[in-house]
Amino acid sequence: MKLTVVGGGSTYTPELIDGFARLRDTLPIEDLVLVDPSTERLDLVGGLARRIFAKQHHDGRITTTSDLDAAVDGADAVLLQLRVGGQAARAQDETWPLECGCVGQETTGAGGLAKALRTVPVVLDIAERVRRANPDAWLIDFTNPVGIVTRALLQAGHKAVGLCNVAIGFQRRFAALLDVAPSEVHLDHVGLNHLTWETAVRLGGPEGRNVLPDLLTHHGEAIAADLHLPHALLTHLDAIPSYYLRYFYAHDEVVRELRTKPSRAAEVAAMEAQLLTLYADPALDEKPELLSRRGGAYYSEAAVDLAAALLTGAGSPYQVVNTRNNGTLPFLPDDAVIEVQAAVGQKGATPLPVPPLDPLYAGLIANVTAYEHLALEAALHGGRNRVLKALLAHPLIGQYEYADHLTDRLIAHNREHLAWA
Ligand code: G6P
Ligand code: MN
Repeated sequence: MKLTVVGGGSTYTPELIDGFARLRDTLPIEDLVLVDPSTERLDLVGGLARRIFAKQHHDGRITTTSDLDAAVDGADAVLLQLRVGGQAARAQDETWPLECGCVGQETTGAGGLAKALRTVPVVLDIAERVRRANPDAWLIDFTNPVGIVTRALLQAGHKAVGLCNVAIGFQRRFAALLDVAPSEVHLDHVGLNHLTWETAVRLGGPEGRNVLPDLLTHHGEAIAADLHLPHALLTHLDAIPSYYLRYFYAHDEVVRELRTKPSRAAEVAAMEAQLLTLYADPALDEKPELLSRRGGAYYSEAAVDLAAALLTGAGSPYQVVNTRNNGTLPFLPDDAVIEVQAAVGQKGATPLPVPPLDPLYAGLIANVTAYEHLALEAALHGGRNRVLKALLAHPLIGQYEYADHLTDRLIAHNREHLAWA
């Protein structure tokens, strides 16, 4: 089995390698290729990756290259985890929207739109080259904004599934609170990437007993504290929102906070410099503790599970993924991409049925789906007017005055990444 990681020079990669090493019985990788434009990062990350494999007696071969076509040749699956423009572009996304009093975030609001515009054309080009090399290869997309990028891939007819670690993070957290094995915890997870709610927490499988009410009664305060949201909100929702919903439920509070501190990108850039120094140490042969301060916890386990299910039918039969709606949420178009529990196997992902949704969730999901549609149009075809329309449709922006200003700022800050600007 050959797997290729695009963006393999990311400081996140050791997280992935650690999972590949530990879970090699689920996903028997023979050839692992890390591809990245930065040879310097490839040397550091590739070196550590080989030491992690060696320590754990994994005899898979790890190679590094900047040649994408060679890297994807013969790959059974290609994992996309790239960041166009790096942390510098992310820092912009997190900053200029604040000038208009709007949240500055890399996947939500105007910053998320900027990231989509930079990313979609690059990912589509990579996907095309993967398809040319091996039309049967699966694309696993961890590249943000995952919902929009996955929609772009599926619309272009690619074999793609989108992945995020929010659901697996909740699964692990709830398992610990309930003192059961993570595999026992099945989430009724519904919405769009970075816009989801856990509407039930079941034990044993999709038909299992719903313990969400008990969880909220006994651990509601702790869960609310994790999310930095008021406990009362969770009680009203009767569901557990992802922490990305804080950008909606506490938008103005978040804006005030963001204005007083350095951006997450700046924090991450500082961490990355430290991580790369650690990776350069030939004595290091495991993922360092510092990596746990990044947001990607359990990403490797989710990725192994998904790749195993798609490539061999091993791995969990039900997984939370980003895939085509196909009537699952009847108030959305079939070609919208949703994030839900799905049956996953060698034929791909099929969403499990979702019970009718409270308008409290359905309204926001429909609104953001409309934004994502317009965002993808802007990413594919460019033009100031398309950017403006996407921002007008976004529930966190909406007002013409803001949308107009933000459109100008978005274009000014991203000109070097936008072919049409
Ligand atoms: C979580 C999200 C990812 C996001 C990451 C950011 O893992 O699910 O989509 O990329 O957080 O983490 P960072 O450490 O870069 O802020
Ligand atoms: Mn995510």
